[in-house]
Amino acid sequence: MRKKLTKAIFPVAGLGTRFLPATKSVPKEIMTLVDRPLIQYAIDEARAAGIKEFIFVTSRGKGALEDYFDHAPTLEQELRKKGKTELLEILKDTNMDSGAIAYIRQHKALGLGHAVWCARRLIANEPFAVILPDDVIAAEKPCLQQMVEAYEETGGNVVAAMEVPPEKTSSYGVLDIGEDMGQMVKVKGMVEKPPAEEAPSNLAVIGRYILTPSVLRSLNQMKSGAGGEIQLTDAIANEIGGDDGVYGYRFRGQRFDCGSKAGFLQATVSFGLARAELRDDLLGYIRDVVQMDKAAE
Ligand code: G1P
Repeated sequence: MRKKLTKAIFPVAGLGTRFLPATKSVPKEIMTLVDRPLIQYAIDEARAAGIKEFIFVTSRGKGALEDYFDHAPTLEQELRKKGKTELLEILKDTNMDSGAIAYIRQHKALGLGHAVWCARRLIANEPFAVILPDDVIAAEKPCLQQMVEAYEETGGNVVAAMEVPPEKTSSYGVLDIGEDMGQMVKVKGMVEKPPAEEAPSNLAVIGRYILTPSVLRSLNQMKSGAGGEIQLTDAIANEIGGDDGVYGYRFRGQRFDCGSKAGFLQATVSFGLARAELRDDLLGYIRDVVQMDKAAE
């Protein structure tokens, strides 16, 4: 029987230079969409998919992340004293069971594959998920949960996939499609960040993966790839043709690239509109802005 997926790796070692100066003192993953840090969305999605062990691959300066998932006794006491049970309830999502969360340092920025490899001892010989918190996905059924269901049916290595405009392939891992079954594709090749003219398709990998432990063995070889970095894409590509194979899963949902300012702002608007208590105000404001913009034309 297939082993149940209970572990997830969250690579959060990046410097977030695209968001300087904010990221000078605040980890990118703590930046907020409405009122929740990016990382909370990733954790909620993992929990919904049945993940029990959360492994963060961090770097210097990410202490705020560790504090975020810790209890805050003074704050909690204060809220209790004031009878603010609703706020205490909100804080509950930020607490982890003892031992459920682990932090590993990536000492050098050698690439996403290297970051994942840093967690190898905690993964041991089990399947694992990788969630890139920059990719925020709004979906009725959380993306990783959709993927777990697909994984339970087919097994193997499953990566989230989405069609992107052909001129954007150089920002993504791109799939060479062997067999297209609609929601799922069997993958016969994977290339990291190919220029449009070399891309095997426009089906791009988005930051959700369910992987077999043999991907970690490929990473042991420490081969550098695109951009001189150790690429997760290359290690997954090694599994093609193996016993488990590699599948792309076209998830249902809307993905926001919160690693870019434009994507972050779009996500802010979209998640704001999705909140009943904010919707009317925000929509009114957006309408005004559009009207003023038209009038100025
Ligand atoms: C990483 C992966 C890439 C993937 C992308 C999804 O790239 O290396 O294969 O398509 O995430 O967001 P990054 O955006 O970290 O450069």
